[in-house]
Amino acid sequence: MNLRDIVTKTRSYRRFDESYKIDYRTLESLVGLARLSSTGGNRQPLKFMIYNTPKDCEKIFPYLAWAAYLTGWHGPERGERPTGYIIILGDTSITDIFGVDHGIAAQTMMLGATEAGLGGCIIASIKREELRDEIGLPDKYEILLILALGKPVENVIIEEIKDDDVKYWRDDENNHHVPKRTLKELIIK
Ligand SMILES: Cc1cc2nc3c(=O)[nH]c(=O)nc-3n(C[C@H](O)[C@H](O)[C@H](O)COP(=O)(O)O)c2cc1C
Repeated sequence: MNLRDIVTKTRSYRRFDESYKIDYRTLESLVGLARLSSTGGNRQPLKFMIYNTPKDCEKIFPYLAWAAYLTGWHGPERGERPTGYIIILGDTSITDIFGVDHGIAAQTMMLGATEAGLGGCIIASIKREELRDEIGLPDKYEILLILALGKPVENVIIEEIKDDDVKYWRDDENNHHVPKRTLKELIIK
């Protein structure tokens, strides 16, 4: 796949084949991509937690909120849940200012996931304090983002935006449609 194909394929997937196991090394290699990514002032304040066992994945899942625009759908059912997570943390013993580092790291890892035949979703809507208690996270770490990963079982279709409506939607066959603004709209000069 060339870069454009990888970027195009790197959609947000929220339904997975839960029988598919992601090995630890694969997730570790994604963190290896984050390690090589740009970081403000070269401070490198991000730390990571990797989860890939069914027991651990079950622990993380309840603290995440899925697809706010799909009202009536409260996230993947059993059998379609993620089989790996990477929690992106900010280490406040290094800095309190994480800037856009976690966004860069998240997308870089998502691109790597696509290359590895996986898919997933960047999750910011997290019950942070409850999750902190669940995983016994020391105070010096801030939970910034979570990547929920797995073998996608859904089809995501990019649409040209209509009537300025940014809401993604699902059709009768459960295909997920995601509207994108046109290039013409984005480039203002
Ligand atoms: C910073 C960030 C936070 C996000 N948080 C959530 C989230 O909490 N829950 C969720 O289901 N999707 C979340 N998403 C996924 C977006 O909804 C998704 O990127 C958007 O609908 C566009 O779809 P696409 O990623 O396929 O282009 C997040 C994406 C980003 C970049």
